[in-house]
This record gives sequence, structure tokens and C-alpha cells, in this order.
Amino acid sequence: MRRSNTGKFIVLFAIFAMLLGSFGMNKSNASPKKQSDNYYNEENRPQYHFTPEKNWMNDPNGLVYYKGKYHLFYQHNPYGNKWGNMSWGHAVSKDLVHWEHRPVALKPDDLGAIFSGSIVVDKHNTSGLFENGSGGLIAIYTSAGETQQQSIAYSTDEGETWTKYSGNPVIPNSDIVDFRDPKVMWYEEDEKWVMTIAAGDHVRFYSSKNLIEWKLMSKFGENQGAHGGVWECPELFKLPVDGDPTNTKWVLQVDINPGSVHGGSGGQYFIGEFDGAKFVNDNPQNEVKWVDYGKDFYATQTWSNTNNRQIWIAWMNNWQYAQAIPTSPWRSAMSIPRELSLKTFSGEGVKLVQNPVKELRRIEKKPYKWQEETIKPGENILADFDSKTYEITAEFELGSASEFGFKVRKGANEETVIKYDVSEEQLIFDRTDSGEDEFSKSFAGKFTAPLDPIDNKIKLHIFVDHSSVEVFANNGEKVMTNLIFPDGSSDGLEIFSKNGNVKLTSLTINEMESVWNKE
Ligand code: FRU
Repeated sequence: MRRSNTGKFIVLFAIFAMLLGSFGMNKSNASPKKQSDNYYNEENRPQYHFTPEKNWMNDPNGLVYYKGKYHLFYQHNPYGNKWGNMSWGHAVSKDLVHWEHRPVALKPDDLGAIFSGSIVVDKHNTSGLFENGSGGLIAIYTSAGETQQQSIAYSTDEGETWTKYSGNPVIPNSDIVDFRDPKVMWYEEDEKWVMTIAAGDHVRFYSSKNLIEWKLMSKFGENQGAHGGVWECPELFKLPVDGDPTNTKWVLQVDINPGSVHGGSGGQYFIGEFDGAKFVNDNPQNEVKWVDYGKDFYATQTWSNTNNRQIWIAWMNNWQYAQAIPTSPWRSAMSIPRELSLKTFSGEGVKLVQNPVKELRRIEKKPYKWQEETIKPGENILADFDSKTYEITAEFELGSASEFGFKVRKGANEETVIKYDVSEEQLIFDRTDSGEDEFSKSFAGKFTAPLDPIDNKIKLHIFVDHSSVEVFANNGEKVMTNLIFPDGSSDGLEIFSKNGNVKLTSLTINEMESVWNKE
């Protein structure tokens, strides 16, 4: 019975395939695939953040802008929804917002798994790996086998396919236990490549003229910043201070796991000088500058080859519970891309400022606006609003209220609170009652960031996308990124004040379009 049915099916299928063939509808020229209603619609699936279609993802890798496209490679397990078989997944975008999935780019080999790394445009063929007169892309990554060593691969077809260099590893290693995550940049003044790489409890700087032969120049990290865990995914880049191109500073970003601001993994950064060989911290060595005051912003990397724009993205997760978060068939999302700048703050010196890239405005839907409203305890002027994908832009003028803010993804028994505590001068993110959290004891909690009002005002720019909330406070001076897993029915929004009133000078709410093709 079974057999004959299968047989029939094969015959029918063959006829169907022939018909398709005769009408020219083969794979290469068929109209775009129509996705099922369930495509990118699973519970907790972000709608305007990058997620792989299925399976595990961690760090962003190989971010590069090349020939009109932003490339996003990422740590990926092509065979499962937990960490393992580390490979580089790949996606491309013309606008940093809409992504197209591409085939897996780099797979494990004899030297080991493919851990994090970067990509540069070798415009002038310094490597000699391209044809005369043409350049191409070079990936520099960690081969993680018995030891962690650095390898390279090259692509002549805009990152679609890769050839591993036959002389790998280009930086062999037999003694350093954690030696990984090379980020390479072109150092114009000396016409050389500079690699920043993590080596356990410090970073190392290497230089090269051809991306193949590397020389150790210096180390940085002993007694500097936070050391509660291993250092990973470092990066060095230069930015103008207060928008003045004649006054630049170097930023050295270093991830740490565990030992971050609220436990587990997170990022810190140093501001200083780099002379082509050595980084010198401008600030006291024990001072720690946190990149993000939430729990879920790790392994940042900036796009290379973007001229004057410095844009990074991070893995929105924390190694404390990364492999247990309740999502399927994929696991993990990237943050929204953020544009970086340096700003001087009185009494605090130069600090890193992060703001959402302007390209996100393309997916904003019709705005809802309010102005000059007084928010009183017990009154919620947003009671009619329900959504799981939106952006809030709000400015408050402090009044008699001791606390004020928003409750997002609010349901009968769930809420995620983002509020300002006036007397403590703190921004607070509370996900204690945000939804599902049994998968890890380290998940539920209340996280704080110090935040001074500016001219008696607090500004909050908040991005909610199903299972994540990113808060940019006071024009990106402080940022908090956190995951949440509320029930699907918890889609309410509340604006509130406690123990007095607060003035809402302006409020805009934009629902956001989905960036995934669900036609
Ligand atoms: C950071 C990290 C990197 C490493 C990669 C492995 O999250 O541990 O140091 O290269 O993940 O997947």
C-alpha cells in the first residue's frame, strides 16, 4: 500500500517537474519564493532584528561594507540550536535593516572550528592572493582546534565563497590557552595592517604588511579595567571627539566573560592614544567604562570600510543562559545596528555614545504623537495601545514624581519596567516579572545605570521587538539592552509616574514594519 502510493507520488512529481522545466520555471529564474504564513512568525521571533532562519548564532563576525552591501557573518552552528560545529553564517543587506540569508561561508577544517574574526577589503592586493590589479576580501579568524591559532581565507566573489589560505595558520600558537577573535584594520599612517586580538587576560597588537606575516607589537590589559573573566572579541578604532575631525581619540573595546556589570558576559571600553604600535589608556587603570548597562549586549564588532561612519552590532545574549533561552528553531538575535561617536561630558571626560542607525526610520510606520502632557499617578494615557514591535521616543521634565517611565509587553501578570528613579539618579530596567524566566536563575532581575538629567530632563529612546528591549537614554549616553520572554498576549503599554506628577514634553511612538519577507 505504502509502496504504491510512493510510486504514484514519484510519477506525479516527475510529470510536474517536467512541466515546470518546459515552462522555464527552474530554480534560477523562478519568481521569489513565497514564504509560508509562519515564516518568521514563531513565538518570540524578532521582526526587525537579525536572526538566522534556524539554528544557533553567537558573535557577529567579518562585518564589512563592500560594493554597496553590508555583510554580516556570524558564529553559527548549522546543525543545531546550541553552540557547536562553529562556522560562519552569512547575510547581506543594502540598508542595515533588511537582510538576505546567504549560504554558510566558512566551515570547520583540519585546524579546527571557525571562531570569531573580521574581514578587510584588500584593495591593493597587499596579500598577493588576488589577481594583479584587483583586490578582494580577506577574512581573518581563529582556528579553534587543539589550540587557538589565527588563519585567513580570501574571497573573489564578494564574500559568497571562500578559499582558505594554504599556509594557515598565519599566527601559530602552542602555549596561550585563550588566543582568539582577531579584528584587523588598515593603519594609514604606517601603511600597514593592525590586528587587535584577545589573549586571556589582555589584548595584543600585531602588525603586517601583507595580512600573512604578522609581528607582535605590544600588549595591553594588565591591571586595566575589569578582569572578572576572560577577555574576548576586542577592537580598536578611532573617532572624532565632539564631531571635531581634528581632535580624535582611540577606543579600545574589550568583551569580558564573566564579570560584566550585571553578571555574565558584557563589554567594557578604554579611551586613549594609539601610535601604530601601543595603546595608552587616558584614564585611571582601575576605572571601568561599560559599553551597555543591560545583560544582553555582547561581542560587538564594527563594520569595516564604512568611511567616516562607525557602526556596530552585538549579539543580544549572555553566556549565563544563552543556550537555554526559549526560542526555536533559531537561537539568538543581533542588536539593532548602532552608530558610534565620542562626546565630552563635564566632570567625566570623553565617553562613547551609541545611537540607532538612521536607516531604521525606513521601517517606522505612522507615528502617534503627544506633547506637553502631565502624567499623573494612576493614569495611563497609552492604555489603548497594543503592539510588540515599536519604537518610543520620549522626553520628560522632572516634576514631583519620585519615579516615572514605561511598562512594555504588559499583560495580566507580566510587565517589563523601564523607569527613572529621580532621587537615586538611576535608570532602572526591571524584568523580574517580564515573562518566562525559569530556564535560568541568572535571568530575572533589576538592572541599573547611573544617569544625570540634562537641564532637568530625561530622554528615553526605546526599541521593543517581541523578545528584546533596547533603551538609549539621553541621546545615547547610556544604553541598556535586555531580552524578555513574555506571553504572546502581553502586548500592552503603560506610561506612569509615582508619588507625584511628571511632565511629558514630547512622546512619539512608531510601530515598526517587519523586515522579513512574509508575502
Ligand atoms: C565570544 C566567543 C569568542 C569565540 C566565539 C566562539 O562569545 O567566546 O571569544 O571566538 O565566542 O563561538
